[in-house]
Amino acid sequence: MEIDWTVDPELTRLGWKDLNDVPAEVSARMETLNTIVDVGGGSGSFGAIARKSHPEARIICIDLTPRISPNGVQYIKGSGLELPFKNSSIDLVTVHAMLHHVPDQLEMALEEVKRILRPGGYIIIQEPLDGNPLANMARKKVTTTHHDEGEIPLPSAKLERLARNYFQVESVDHHFIYFYLMPHIVPRVPRILRGAARAVSRGFYRLDKRLLKKERGRKRAAYINIVGRK
Ligand SMILES: C[S@@+](CC[C@H](N)C(=O)[O-])C[C@H]1O[C@@H](n2cnc3c(N)ncnc32)[C@H](O)[C@@H]1O
Repeated sequence: MEIDWTVDPELTRLGWKDLNDVPAEVSARMETLNTIVDVGGGSGSFGAIARKSHPEARIICIDLTPRISPNGVQYIKGSGLELPFKNSSIDLVTVHAMLHHVPDQLEMALEEVKRILRPGGYIIIQEPLDGNPLANMARKKVTTTHHDEGEIPLPSAKLERLARNYFQVESVDHHFIYFYLMPHIVPRVPRILRGAARAVSRGFYRLDKRLLKKERGRKRAAYINIVGRK
């Protein structure tokens, strides 16, 4: 079964806020930020958040299928496995939900990011993980207009280990257990029940936060955020 990518905007904002805030938080810590590269950036909006603290920064989105966006992002059609930038030339690289499209070439992708980052430059990685039973069940039963065939959610430990091989990892945090699918489920319940479904979802959000403080909870997380430095 294939379904359209329909999400509840209020729940999406709530659930993704912490992850979406990371580029702005990291860039605010950087004295110099001239160039941001958003690898597999799609619309380029994730990398663009980092420009908040450095409005003059140039943002380049490199993607196999580049799109036009109104937010001043420059697009390059190309592969994240062969980045068209000089060694040590980029201040910040964002990689949001791209690595799981190249699960057999993770080393190559991270090697490329390391090559183009200047010493002291940052990488932000955010990727879906393979340990969330609800997400895994949904992936088996339902395909969406947003997903490609070759993409595979990644094992948390493997991604973290690889990130540590290439970068000085400054933070790793995990997100979503029960809440993950709620922004997709709520728009599909009858309108009359939607308020209640949102309230239940907010409860799941708070529950997830508590569970994710423990190692057992983190093993069930659906998403990871890693911030590393060269
Ligand atoms: C799930 S989308 C994420 C898009 C965007 N980062 C976001 O978060 O909205 C994955 C993106 O990675 C791109 N992609 C997949 N493999 C790639 C590769 N080898 N090099 C560059 N981009 C790639 C796809 O074209 C797609 O736009």
